[in-house]
Parts: sequence; structure tokens; C-alpha cells
Amino acid sequence: MKLAIVQFEPKFGDLLQTIEKLKSLLKKAKEADLVVLPELANTGYNFDSKEQALHLSETINESVFLAFLMDACRKYQFSVATGFSEKEGGKLYNSSVLVDETGVKSVYRKLHLFMNEKNIFEAGNIDLSVIEHKGIKLGMLVCFDWMFPEAWRKLALQGAELILHPSNLVLPYAQSVIPSYSLVNRVFIATANRIGTEKELTFTGQSIITGTKGEVLAKAGEKEEILMVEFDPKQSNDKMITPLNDAFKDRRIDKYE
Ligand code: ACM
Repeated sequence: MKLAIVQFEPKFGDLLQTIEKLKSLLKKAKEADLVVLPELANTGYNFDSKEQALHLSETINESVFLAFLMDACRKYQFSVATGFSEKEGGKLYNSSVLVDETGVKSVYRKLHLFMNEKNIFEAGNIDLSVIEHKGIKLGMLVCFDWMFPEAWRKLALQGAELILHPSNLVLPYAQSVIPSYSLVNRVFIATANRIGTEKELTFTGQSIITGTKGEVLAKAGEKEEILMVEFDPKQSNDKMITPLNDAFKDRRIDKYE
């Protein structure tokens, strides 16, 4: 498969300008089978208040942003996973949504909220799950979920071959853990980060795609950039570290489950 990450800066609170920017970026990624966008790509990140976030966010079923992405999927015959500020009733979720030419295929709501997100969003209320999409077993996490190895392990144990990770990373060392999660779980990971500054927060770019041995298949700088990598996701089904060591079967869950 060909996987692309579009590392860019959404225009805070200006959906139409963000869509304009993405039009040209998605065209440049048209060779991909699957494109990953950063966290909260429809709104930007650093809300002043929950009221402002409610005003700027969309529901999944009536989203101009997701409709635009579905159109792009039809045009370029790829799928897109995007961070999405999701409104449902009076509640907000920091979500990741997978769409293709036929519609919404999967939704994940961020489990671990970072800093002021706790004043804006509800913590995720959907179980971690893996879906089979176009022959590939996919899991999704969002940004600060990076801090919690249990979530990555759970997706890998459910058979995920590739974990999609829309992000708005700000801590300077966050990306460094991603190769290790790939390695210990023998999965591919795509961490799609953003760039730019919103008030006191500067986002660190350096989006990264990692392989099952912890190798860095591609890493971005700190500017607008498209990463594109071709790999075989089925490699992640080989959990053998040596002929006598299976990364999953050797776990001593009798001692630490
Ligand atoms: C983060 O979770 N956006 C740092």
C-alpha cells in the first residue's frame, strides 16, 4: 500500500480556508491509497472556550469538512483518516474519522485528553477497535494517546496491522516513542502531526511513519510537507523476534495482566 501523511497548518476557526489549502495538498497526495491528516484538522486546536469549540465543530452526519474529504476520495480513489472536532448533542469529542468514497467507515474518540482539552471535550466513550478496510486491518488513536502504551498494545493484540495517529504534538520528545511502539507491537504506525502556532502552543511537525522493526520509513521536518511511503502491511502479522521468540505469545500475562 501507499500511505501519505499531509503535515500542514489548519486555519484556526476558518473551515473554508482550511479546505482551500487541503485541495492542493490532497492533489499532491493523489498517488496514495490512504492519506492521514492531523488532529482537529477541521477546526484547529487551541480553543478559548467550550462555547467557541461548539460553535466551530461539526457533527459527523452534517459535516462540510467530511463531505469535502469524501469528494476527494472519489476523485483520487484514496481513503482519508482525519482528526475531527466532533459535535454530538451538546458534547464534543476529539475524534479521528476514516472516510472513503462511500462515506464514514470508522470513528474513534480520543481516550486521553491533554491539558485544556479536559475543559472542552468529553473523554472518548468508544471501545478501542480494529476495522478491516480495503484488506488492511486499521486501528486509530489520537495524539496524547501516545503516552499510554496499553492503547497501542490493545490495538495490536486485536490484529491491527497499521495504527493511524492524527496528532497536534507540542511536547518536544513525543515522536521519539513511536518507533518503539512499532517495534514492540510489530505494527506500522503513521503519526500525522501539524505545524504552526496557536497562541501559546507551537506544534512540532516531524510527522513519522514507522515499520515493524522500529525503522523510520519517513520523517518530516517542521514545515508543510507530504510524506509518502509504500509498504506491505501484512508484514505486521509476523510477530517472531527470533525463531524461538514470539512477541505476543511469549508475554507472561500470568504475571502482569
Ligand atoms: C495533544 O494531545 N494534542 C498534545
